[in-house]
Amino acid sequence: MKKSKIAGCLLLCVAATAYAETTTITVNTRNTSLIYKVDDAGKLRQIYFGPILDAESVENTQMTQVDAYPAFGTSYINEAALRVVHGDGNTSTELYFDGVEQNRLGDDMTETVITLKDGYFPFTVKLFFRAYETNDIIEQWSEITHAEKKPVTLYNFASSHLFFNEPSYYLTQFCGEWAMEMNMVETQLSRGVKNIESKLGVRSDQHAHPCFYLSLGGKAQERAGRVIGGTLAWPGSYRLSFEVDHRENLHIVSGINPYASHYILAPKEVFKTPALLYTYSDSGVGVISRRFHRWAQKYGIYRGDKTRTTLLNNWEATYFDFNEEVLSGIIKDAADMGFELFLLDDGWFGNKYPRNSDNAGLGDWDCNKKKLPHGLGYLVEEAKKNGIKFGIWLEPEMVNPKSELYEKHPDWVIGQPHRQLDLSRNQLILDLSNPKVQDFVFGVIDKILSENPDIAYIKWDCNRFVTNSGSYFLSPEKQSHLWIGYVRGLFSVLERVRTKYKDVSMMCCSGGGGRIDYATLPYFDEFWISDNTDALDRIFIQWGTTQFFPSMALASHVSVVPNHITGRTEPLKFRFDVAMSAKLGMDLQPKDMSPEDKTFSRNAIKDYYKIRPIVQFGDLYRLLSPYESRRTAMMYVAEDKSEAVLFAYLLKKTINGDTQPLILEGLEPARNYKVTELNKASQGYSWFTPLEGKVFSGDYLMKYGLRFTMYNEYESKVIYIESVK
Ligand code: DGJ
Repeated sequence: MKKSKIAGCLLLCVAATAYAETTTITVNTRNTSLIYKVDDAGKLRQIYFGPILDAESVENTQMTQVDAYPAFGTSYINEAALRVVHGDGNTSTELYFDGVEQNRLGDDMTETVITLKDGYFPFTVKLFFRAYETNDIIEQWSEITHAEKKPVTLYNFASSHLFFNEPSYYLTQFCGEWAMEMNMVETQLSRGVKNIESKLGVRSDQHAHPCFYLSLGGKAQERAGRVIGGTLAWPGSYRLSFEVDHRENLHIVSGINPYASHYILAPKEVFKTPALLYTYSDSGVGVISRRFHRWAQKYGIYRGDKTRTTLLNNWEATYFDFNEEVLSGIIKDAADMGFELFLLDDGWFGNKYPRNSDNAGLGDWDCNKKKLPHGLGYLVEEAKKNGIKFGIWLEPEMVNPKSELYEKHPDWVIGQPHRQLDLSRNQLILDLSNPKVQDFVFGVIDKILSENPDIAYIKWDCNRFVTNSGSYFLSPEKQSHLWIGYVRGLFSVLERVRTKYKDVSMMCCSGGGGRIDYATLPYFDEFWISDNTDALDRIFIQWGTTQFFPSMALASHVSVVPNHITGRTEPLKFRFDVAMSAKLGMDLQPKDMSPEDKTFSRNAIKDYYKIRPIVQFGDLYRLLSPYESRRTAMMYVAEDKSEAVLFAYLLKKTINGDTQPLILEGLEPARNYKVTELNKASQGYSWFTPLEGKVFSGDYLMKYGLRFTMYNEYESKVIYIESVK
């Protein structure tokens, strides 16, 4: 065995000259190790990613020929992580190890920075790895700089490259479309390249989310099997590329989509890629979700430790057709039912071009005097009088051509000369790569919030993607920078909003699940995953979404029947039981409800408050998948395991009843738990009555389970599980 240096301990720096001996770099979380070595030629090789190895095992790992960050020209068998044309026109890059630094960033986090340098050009790539130890998550990105005389053009600039050598690979992707988001589809990978990607630029996640499970040696399972879960933190165009090569090795390259996005990098400028967040589990995907949820509460969403409020939104209640009286009535009813906030949706602004439909007014953020003669302040006051908070809808990145804003600034939109305006939902996107547009967007929010300091909540919408991808601001040779410049502009605005308005809650909305990622969510308290509020469809959409994103931030609204999108009619209890499994809200006109339905809603909301801490801060265990069985079930368990709540839904009627046992998870085997039904359909008999109030050991519940029959389509149960002496 060769003499080796191991960079696994902290505050360690290894200089370039040291690689005469083998340098080994280990990035450890509590349960996983990612290992690199420098070979005799000074190249950085990926050695291993999997369950944690002890120091001796790390020492004994063997050298590979796998480039840690393959560069075009010298490492071109597979998809390159990096492809660059240097200042003198040279198209190849040859990266050599130049040093590593490891630092502890906190009790639970280390950062490893590996520096690679080109053998000839003054061109540097730094690979960053943040290891979140308890959560077992690694955050990886790269930073590219150079000191060449002329600018360098970047064509490929990946965040990460990961390598696996396994008998088979199964990829789960999360794909969808407006109103049918986050469908889980698993495929076995065969030779060649499979890309999960978006070229949409804005609201990029609409058709495919930048998330994946990669199961090694067999299909992904909930409780068993070796799986990698990853998600790219980037709201713009992205590409996750999975290549099975001629030797059946798998290479995963992640990052900004290089498609039509070459970037001219000036000397000394730092090009920072987005981060890939990933984790390895040897006990299935359930663990992966729980790790991401816990991680998100700490690092991935805004104020992840704060309770999320319930709200009533007037979108499906009124659409654009409302006035002060109608809204005041809704506010009163919302408060009366027990909601904590009223959210005023689209349609409240525009005077010269009133926003009475989606074809005018966007961009003119002045209160519409006809609908709301006393201004926003009046409604904020109405909410206050009724003891609830007030929130407002904005779509600040967009503009209708029929608006005063467009009349004044036609060159602020994304578009190109000699081309017709390409409208989608009758609107255009403002060019956020332009600092003046950034100022405008920040100014809109700043004005509304400073004039109405009691506004507690913003729903930040985003309803179209990029076409005609030109910028009137960027120079002709930098037009391809728009995709990246837009996202940077967006973050700069969000940063300013958050610096000034720390206490305002914000919902990241992009009807169609278009913008949910861990670069955007640190600015937002919650997100709107779908315009489809049909509870049956929502079970699937929420099942997919919560694989990576926590339920505490997933707004789920009870809406009217027949559902406006699907036309399906489901019982109010079923609609509540689905919405209560995430962040409860409502999207209907309360004055159209019967007194019985109002009473039911009042009680359901009360029950939600009882379980809210468990739903919002507990660990999610998925028991029965809607993809596999007629009955679907999931539960949340409080961190201290003293309480849990179980949700069960029957998706299809079964003539003799569905008797599928519900084998619980996450409880303490030795503790006793009392089970009680919540949000009952009526006070009378329920199929759960024989078990009502009974006490069982955690061991029993996790082996024999809860057994009760369900018969009818859209039947549902919410069971509260409480530890007792
Ligand atoms: C799309 C959102 O997803 C809806 O909830 C609603 O806010 C509309 N936009 C308003 O235009």
